[in-house]
Amino acid sequence: MSEKALHKPLVFSGVQPTGDLHLGNYLGAIKNWVPMQAEKPCIFCVVDLHAMTAEFDPRALPGKTREVAAGYIASGINPDTSIIFAQSRVSAHAELAWVLNCVARIGWLNRMTQFKDKAGKNREAASVGLYVYPVLMAADILAYKATHVPVGEDQKQHLELARDIAQKFNNDFDAPDFFPQPEPLILGPTPRVMSLRDGKAKMSKSDPSAASRITLMDSADEIADKIRRAKTDPDNLPESRDGLANRPEAENLLSIFAALTDVSLDQAIAQFAGKQFSAFKGALAEAAVAKLSPIRDTMVRLMGDPAELDRILAKGAARADAIAAPILAEVKKITGLS
Ligand code: TYM
Repeated sequence: MSEKALHKPLVFSGVQPTGDLHLGNYLGAIKNWVPMQAEKPCIFCVVDLHAMTAEFDPRALPGKTREVAAGYIASGINPDTSIIFAQSRVSAHAELAWVLNCVARIGWLNRMTQFKDKAGKNREAASVGLYVYPVLMAADILAYKATHVPVGEDQKQHLELARDIAQKFNNDFDAPDFFPQPEPLILGPTPRVMSLRDGKAKMSKSDPSAASRITLMDSADEIADKIRRAKTDPDNLPESRDGLANRPEAENLLSIFAALTDVSLDQAIAQFAGKQFSAFKGALAEAAVAKLSPIRDTMVRLMGDPAELDRILAKGAARADAIAAPILAEVKKITGLS
C-alpha cells in the first residue's frame, strides 16, 4: 500500500519559546501554516522542552510559551480547529524521545550542523539536551504519526534525521510502515530569512544585535527604523534574478517584500527594477507594518488575558494527548515495554 493511503495526512510543526518571535519564524514557518488548516488537520506545538536545551529563564518560560501561542493565533491559526499546545504538557513527547534516543545513532547526530552552530567552540560544555534535540523533534512529529512538517530551511536536516529514525524504528522492530516518513514542506519565497545586518547570516533569536531582526512585537516605528538601517549595497536594485547574484542583502530584502505582499520574487524584482534602495525601503517598511501591526495588536490583546491563553493551551494539550497516547501505547507494545 502507498505511504499516502497508510497514514492519514496530518500537519505538525512548532516554534521554541525562546527570545521573541521574529520575521524569520513568521515568514519561514507560521505564515505558511495558515492556509494548511483548510486542507489537513494541523497540530502546532510550542516546544518548551526544546527551549531548555540552551540557557533559559524558568521564570520567563510560562510567559514566553503564552507569547508564542498568542503569535500563532494572531497570525491566523484557529485554536478551535487546529491544535495549539505546549510540548511539556503531553508526556508522549519525552517518553517517545527516550525510545528514539535508543534508535538514533551517535554518528547521525554528529552530522547535525545546527548543533555545531549552537554549541559553538566550547562543544564539551553544551547540554546533552542540545545534542539530542533533533531526536526530541523526531518524537514530536512521530508521536502523532504526522505526515507533513512545514518549516524553514534550517530545519531540513533535522527532518531528514526524523525520516531516518522512523525508518530504523520500523525496520529494527519489524513494524513495517508503523511510522510514516514525514515530509518537510519548505515553502514560499523566504525559506531562509537573513539578518538585516548581514545578508549572509540567518535572522535568529540569538543574534546579539536587535537591529538584525524584526520581531512580531516591534512597533511600527521600530520596524520602519530597522528597515531604514538595514544593510544594503551601493547599486540600484536589479532588473532580473541574475542581477541578484552576490547581492545577498538585495535578495533578502526583495524576498521579504515578496513574502509580505504575497507576490513572487520575480514580481517583486520587476516592481523595483532599477530603483534606489531608499525608495524600495519605504515600500518595504510600509508592507511590513501593514502585515505585522495587526498581528502585534492581536498578540498584545491576547496576552492581556493569560487565563484564556492557558485555557486554549490546556484544551489543545488534551486533544493532542488523545492522539499521541494510543500511538505511544503501540510503541510500548512493539518495543516490549508493556
Ligand atoms: P525555531 O524555534 O528555531 O524556529 C521555528 C520555525 O521558524 C523557522 N525559522 C526560519 N525560517 C526562515 N528564516 C529564518 N531566519 C528562520 N528562523 C527560524 C524554523 O525553520 C522553524 O520552522 N526545532 C525547531 C522547532 C521544532 C519543530 C518540531 C519544528 C521542535 N519540534 C517538530 C517542526 C516539527 C526549532 O527550534 O525551530
